Amino acid sequence: MTPPSPPLCLFLLLCLPLWPVPAAGGGGKWDLLLSNIGISAMHMQLLHTDRVVMFDRTNFGSSNISLPKAECVHDPDDPPSRLDCTAHSVEYDVASNSVRPLTLSTNIWCSSGAVLPDGTLVQTGGNGRGDHAVRLYKPCTNNNNNYSCNWQETTKALSQRRWYATSQILPDGRQIIVGGRGEFNYEFYPKKTAGEGSYSLPFLYQTFQSGKENNLYPFVFLNIDGNLFIFANNRAILFDHMNSKVIRTYPTLPGGDPRNYPSTGSAVLLPLKSSTVEVLVCGGAPTDSYKRAYYNRDFVEALNTCGRIAINDPDPQWVMETMPLARVMGDMLLLPDGNVLIINGAAFGTAAWELGRSPVLSPVLYYPDNQPGSRFEVQNPTSTPRMYHSSSILLRDGRVIVGGSNPHQFYNFTDVLFPTDLTLESFSPSYLDPQFGYLRPQILSPVSGFYVGYGQDVMIRFNVGSGRVVKSEIMVTMIVPAFATHSFSMNQRLLILDSWDVKEVGRYKYQLRVRMPGSGNFAPGGYYLLFVVHRDIPSEGIWIHI
Ligand SMILES: *[C@@H]1O[C@H](CO)[C@@H](O)[C@H](O)[C@H]1NC(C)=O
Ligand SMILES: *[C@@H]1O[C@H](CO)[C@@H](O)[C@H](O)[C@H]1NC(C)=O
Ligand SMILES: *[C@@H]1O[C@H](CO)[C@@H](O)[C@H](O)[C@H]1NC(C)=O
Repeated sequence: MTPPSPPLCLFLLLCLPLWPVPAAGGGGKWDLLLSNIGISAMHMQLLHTDRVVMFDRTNFGSSNISLPKAECVHDPDDPPSRLDCTAHSVEYDVASNSVRPLTLSTNIWCSSGAVLPDGTLVQTGGNGRGDHAVRLYKPCTNNNNNYSCNWQETTKALSQRRWYATSQILPDGRQIIVGGRGEFNYEFYPKKTAGEGSYSLPFLYQTFQSGKENNLYPFVFLNIDGNLFIFANNRAILFDHMNSKVIRTYPTLPGGDPRNYPSTGSAVLLPLKSSTVEVLVCGGAPTDSYKRAYYNRDFVEALNTCGRIAINDPDPQWVMETMPLARVMGDMLLLPDGNVLIINGAAFGTAAWELGRSPVLSPVLYYPDNQPGSRFEVQNPTSTPRMYHSSSILLRDGRVIVGGSNPHQFYNFTDVLFPTDLTLESFSPSYLDPQFGYLRPQILSPVSGFYVGYGQDVMIRFNVGSGRVVKSEIMVTMIVPAFATHSFSMNQRLLILDSWDVKEVGRYKYQLRVRMPGSGNFAPGGYYLLFVVHRDIPSEGIWIHI
């Protein structure tokens, strides 16, 4: 709802109470953070230093940000004489709202990533001579202009080319890299032995054949039994990656339409709070949308359906729901309050260059615990289209940052339908609205960076704005930051922790006990954001290291 414009209100004070008050959960607010970060943020990962590593591609010419100290690099795919003196990766510092250029020379285009238990970002694959590469980024908090805090690239670290593959961090601390264009297999990083190769996964071939390639960037989730739920095209399996064995095959998603690239929908593992583990898949583009858009310039309306499935049920079935807005290339993000934000994308066409139409400017919230029929809520729109090659992630303070959008082969700022976008915006869900400040918790202890063990009980101290806590409406959540690209947030995972014993321990001070997850099957080792949520309003997160 939009309040009437102030000039209509001659007596401001009298008018104020008549202005509609946004309902709890409605609204949300957009802000432009930076008008030019120098690249179009195709991939993003938040690190435990509250810095976000972003990158684009290396093979289209110059970006809009120079490398430091007049440095130039040679992309092995370019002619020997061509040097590139611009950066294709940047690090965004949330606190100072600024970026610094990072150096990459092999093409990271349409790659994947995951953060290792020690906080190192491992970025895998890409295109051209970067398609077998692994690149490591070790977070650092020192001086922003420390150029040695940068990417380290190894070009032949993977056994297969991984372009449009998906990475998932595993309970043993390794990551699995699943699929990629023309790759019906998976592999691990780091390797167990120097010669460890890849393992075949016929499911990827089956979903490729039946769908003419609508199986790229498969949706991969770690189940709490240690197996992987893998969704490609319109089908899903539960897969034992240790023994290379399909454990169960789920029913086909009703309607039969594909949900993976280029019919790009999105998916999340809904918040984990008991043994019920549910996956939600939303949006995408109907069968043949890509062909019709590519060959006939016929842009088909996107899908407006979601399928939800309890993956450990004895007889798992998809339950279909209808979104208020059809959407292809939407991102799905888990928010600290346990709800899901569906953001970015288009209402017609598909993913890939020049094939999307009618940007969807309004995000939609999904409330997983509401009754069917009242789970979706449309939020306030942005004015910036976020089409192909856009991305979004959650920050520690509860905001969502949104960047990228470049549906062209090059950077084109004029004379195109959707110009290359170099801006960075934030979407603040309505839980950040100042009117809820009196409910908002603030975590007093432990301090960020706190090390916890599996199954450990931790005491958390906090206060809230008004000093008054409704004890029965406290929840503690823990989120692992995701690697976001192409509408899928790899590794994204939210746990609702068992918490009890909320009590007042001083003037306006409260404490509670919370139990950490029992094993790496629930929460693979690494850095997580922990939030105290009071009456649906989350605190800022603190970093914990499990
Ligand atoms: C990016 O750089 C190009 C080439 O230097 C320039 O024409 C363009 O205005 C820049 N765009 C933005 C958004 O800064
Ligand atoms: C620069 O970063 C590197 C790598 O993170 C680190 O080892 C080094 O200590 C840093 N130097 C300074 C001056 O902060
Ligand atoms: C986009 O940019 C490229 C490289 O600068 C140029 O060759 C191409 O003509 C541009 N496309 C349009 C539609 O302007």
